Amino acid sequence: MKRMMHLLVCSLLFGIGTATAQSYDSFHPGELWKDNNGVHINAHGGGILLYKNTYYWFGEHKTEGRAGNKAHVGVHCYSSRDLYNWKDEGIALRVSDDPSSPIVRECILERPKVIYNKKTRKFVMWFHLEPKGAGYGGAMVGIAQADRVTGPYTFIRATRATPKMWPVDVLPVHKQPVKPKYMADVPNVYEHPDSVNTLGRDFEKGQHSRDMTLYVDDDGRGYHICSSESNSVIHINELTDDYLDFSGKYVRAFVGRRMEAPAIFKKDGLYYFMASGCTGWRPNAARSAVAPSIWGPWTELGNPCVDAESETTYRSQSTYILPVAGKKNAFIYMGDRWRPENAIDGRYIWLPIEFEDNRFILRWREKWDLSIFE
Ligand code: DGJ
Repeated sequence: MKRMMHLLVCSLLFGIGTATAQSYDSFHPGELWKDNNGVHINAHGGGILLYKNTYYWFGEHKTEGRAGNKAHVGVHCYSSRDLYNWKDEGIALRVSDDPSSPIVRECILERPKVIYNKKTRKFVMWFHLEPKGAGYGGAMVGIAQADRVTGPYTFIRATRATPKMWPVDVLPVHKQPVKPKYMADVPNVYEHPDSVNTLGRDFEKGQHSRDMTLYVDDDGRGYHICSSESNSVIHINELTDDYLDFSGKYVRAFVGRRMEAPAIFKKDGLYYFMASGCTGWRPNAARSAVAPSIWGPWTELGNPCVDAESETTYRSQSTYILPVAGKKNAFIYMGDRWRPENAIDGRYIWLPIEFEDNRFILRWREKWDLSIFE
């Protein structure tokens, strides 16, 4: 009885057995990261929008176990003013219970990103969408829109990328649905292992779009960057003025380099790119690149990680690179340390981006704070 009283008093005083809120003044990559309710942040494969001096973090709401890699809830949103402490803003986009909806519960909904359109004053969300029950064969994007940053977002449609449009850098051979035998020795012509020319094959229906990110340039022009052509090529797509569609202008980059998890940022007029290789949920060595224009030409800069575990990107995979407001040349690498066997327990690896010898690098840090940028 005495012991029970003691436990009761302890749990009332210290919140034992219940979630406890915590205040942070630094980043602790890989550790549990609790929100204002004391619950581990649930925003995987995420991205951040800065709006009116507040950061909004959108990401995949995962649930427990292996099944939790599928979408049972939707896109979760958190807000923060200091980047350390995050307030739960709830579910911004909910999956549907309607079996005919492309975002029906148990679809695969990954890597959501939100951008703000100054002309329409709408918040626009894009994400990688795989219709329920079809594995990763759909290779589509989902598009949603909201009047308020935290939502609710209204699902608009699901589509493949750029149907019936050829890239700016199209070659005659791409227009063949199947690569002809006489082209077998032509260099730089990607051939899918199934010997189908993927660009030509997918022309009518639209190109693959799996891992993706969004980017808004200084002039307000929006871009969608995705793994396409069976993850073998990155497509860089311009968006329409309202950000609700592909404008139709796009290029193929990193042909045959097989990249996932694209992230992009701009510094001193140069565009920097980061991505991973393709090894499912298992981490691999990251790639980096630079270009004078978002359209390229892109020059690869190698693995940006330099410390032990650089071959696994410190056991993480890129999802976004965040410019820190009010600080010059301050960017944060946001990565996911996936836990596919218990998806909800995935961890966040945030590290400062450093610049060295005309490239950017990432060093491992157990703990760090924003004073590093001063
Ligand atoms: C790697 C991708 O980067 C993730 O977003 C996810 O699609 C996994 N593959 C699934 O295996």
